[in-house]
Amino acid sequence: MKRSELIKESQRWLDIISNNSLNDEERKQIIAETIENFRFYYNRGFLEYRKSIIEMKDQPALEWMGEGSEFEDILGRKYLDCLGGFGIYSAGIKHPKVLKAVRDQLERMPLSSQELLDPLRGALAALIGEITPGDLQYCFFINNGTDAVEGALKLARLYTGRVGFLSSIHGFHGKSMGSLSIMGKWEYREPFEPLLPQIHFVEFGDAESVEDELYKADETGKGIAAVIMEPVQGEAGAVVPPNDFWPRIRKACDEYGALLIADEVQTGLGRTGKMFGVDHWKVAPDIMCLGKALGGGVMPLSAFVSTPKIWEKMEGNPFIHTSTFGGNPLACAAGIAAINVTLEEKLPEQAAKKGLYLLSELKALQMRYPRIMKEARGLGLLLGLEFANTEIGYKIVAGLFRKGVLVAGTLTNSRTVRIEPALNIPEKYLDEILDKLEDTLKETDTEILEVKTDEELGI
Ligand SMILES: Cc1ncc(COP(=O)(O)O)c(C=O)c1O
Repeated sequence: MKRSELIKESQRWLDIISNNSLNDEERKQIIAETIENFRFYYNRGFLEYRKSIIEMKDQPALEWMGEGSEFEDILGRKYLDCLGGFGIYSAGIKHPKVLKAVRDQLERMPLSSQELLDPLRGALAALIGEITPGDLQYCFFINNGTDAVEGALKLARLYTGRVGFLSSIHGFHGKSMGSLSIMGKWEYREPFEPLLPQIHFVEFGDAESVEDELYKADETGKGIAAVIMEPVQGEAGAVVPPNDFWPRIRKACDEYGALLIADEVQTGLGRTGKMFGVDHWKVAPDIMCLGKALGGGVMPLSAFVSTPKIWEKMEGNPFIHTSTFGGNPLACAAGIAAINVTLEEKLPEQAAKKGLYLLSELKALQMRYPRIMKEARGLGLLLGLEFANTEIGYKIVAGLFRKGVLVAGTLTNSRTVRIEPALNIPEKYLDEILDKLEDTLKETDTEILEVKTDEELGI
């Protein structure tokens, strides 16, 4: 395209952004263009994968607008959001208090000069220091969960002078090189080897293996810098560890001089029914990673938090770890509002109550459809459904989508389906979701004549 055409084309999109009364023709045109743009300029792979394209073949569903626990595609079809953007919408979509804070700050100063001290960064750090457990007090802000994990890994190395990390099989911590190194899923790791050295993996929930690995590393070398775990594995499909897991790994880390990092990117701010996942076991980690819901569902925001003793290592040269956009005023305004809403609306308590109800109903459904549904599990509103095979899981996810309920499998596999609605989802929607799930289970159970495992299906 020539310069003049590029100006015209970008202006056309600016007009679309500002236009709240598109006609049917314009809407259909946007669908067609979006598919072409993904095909030729973004990544055509998504077109084969997204159920919003595959299941709505004639009129694919395009992201357009939403509020609370509902959103609409560009054609005005309504959906109940039972996925919560994989945990970003704990306060719902477009929470008015978060929107107002971000709008007000946008008008005043959107990003920072990078030189003056910014009050919102300090205010948010203080609030986080107050709500996090134990001696956690100091904070660094960035934009994605993976950035928070990268910072936590660097801090653990800086403080301990050690190199290695201990993580969990199927654990998910992000996809930048450091986070990828501690990810317990071969399909993401393999193409990028060699990753960070001295990474050890244990089964999630197996405290004895954590103790053994720490012992072995200690006996044979300099030991492990940190053990990093999710309080409840999210991406792996809402896997809850045994009750003694977190207290035991806390004790083992203390014994062997390793730091304990809780990756609360998905579990933080009430998702599991407590403010933080580790609160279920009254454990205070040495470093905590936050993300997703911290931005109130409006801004990208993440953080890693640690104790004054550990943070001293960051103070001699405060530029040892920096980020241009991390802790920007818009994100911090959203973070302050997110904490306010979490506390004011008692979001953790809401998650605990609604989670208990949903889980017991999901377990009852599992008993009614045991041929295809194998397990319902989770904590708070981080719930997972395990199906007999990937094909069945996909049929359930797709069937629900056609009925206007959004849930999702894990990133590469639909056998485990995640349910993560907003924590303030109106209670009336819970029964609607359950009814639609039962209809979908019934249809699928009738349709599938013989249930095979993934191995038998060659998946
Ligand atoms: C526990 C956990 N850590 C880290 C991440 C990575 O976050 P992001 O995708 O924002 O980089 C995720 C994302 O799902 C996560 O669930």
